[in-house]
Amino acid sequence: MKGWFSMTMQFFAPRGADGSPMRIPQSFRRTVKWLPQIGDIFPRFVVDSTHGLLDFWDWADGHWVLLFSHPAANTPVCTTELGSIAANRADFEALGAKALGLTVSSIDEQVAWHKDIEDFYGEPIWFPTAHDPEGAVSEVLGMNHAKEHTEWPIRKSFIIDPQMRIRMIFEYPIFIGRSIEETLRVIEALQLRDNTGAATPGDWLDDDPVIIADDRCELEVVRTFGSVSKMLLPYLRVVRTDDKRFRMRTR
Ligand code: BEZ
Repeated sequence: MKGWFSMTMQFFAPRGADGSPMRIPQSFRRTVKWLPQIGDIFPRFVVDSTHGLLDFWDWADGHWVLLFSHPAANTPVCTTELGSIAANRADFEALGAKALGLTVSSIDEQVAWHKDIEDFYGEPIWFPTAHDPEGAVSEVLGMNHAKEHTEWPIRKSFIIDPQMRIRMIFEYPIFIGRSIEETLRVIEALQLRDNTGAATPGDWLDDDPVIIADDRCELEVVRTFGSVSKMLLPYLRVVRTDDKRFRMRTR
């Protein structure tokens, strides 16, 4: 019994460098529930959407997916986000990526709102947005943050790969719009990682050097990237992505 108790304590209250227990609020210690993490297979779900009934796995159909929650139709920040995704259609297509919005507003409200956005931006809303009655799907996916708002989901984004594995999770508060450029940048970096095994540095953009984070031989580096690598520090080895095979889109 003593062993079980100390294991439980260690799980809930890990010790800091000075031996003091980490102070996790009592109420949090009692709430243990599944939340999607990077590496998880994304759950299959069916929702009604502006493109009709949609089974998420079937709809994704081997594409990369940006699944994003947003508070509600006919709200200003969400309008600009949808407008930005609409305007970046060519970039999504070049990356083989689809987009799906999720919110609590009815389909009729969303359809009318899309028309407004299309008129305002002069860009078609080429992606579906889904209706999540009562916010039930949002709840499972950790999109409802009661301390941010009790009525609306936050802006949570998942990047999901063609095998339906979660590769990135962003959470933004209600009143801060997301950067769609950043979303596209991460999809591109993930694809580069999958295709070459390279890591990407902070603030990486598509012409920048990439990081070789393993100990592959120089011959392999040249074969993959078309140029030799350089040791900038004993633990920082970089190479340029000179090989046009890795330029999958232009900005
Ligand atoms: C928005 O601008 O997206 C927004 C504004 C008020 C409440 C929720 C969302």
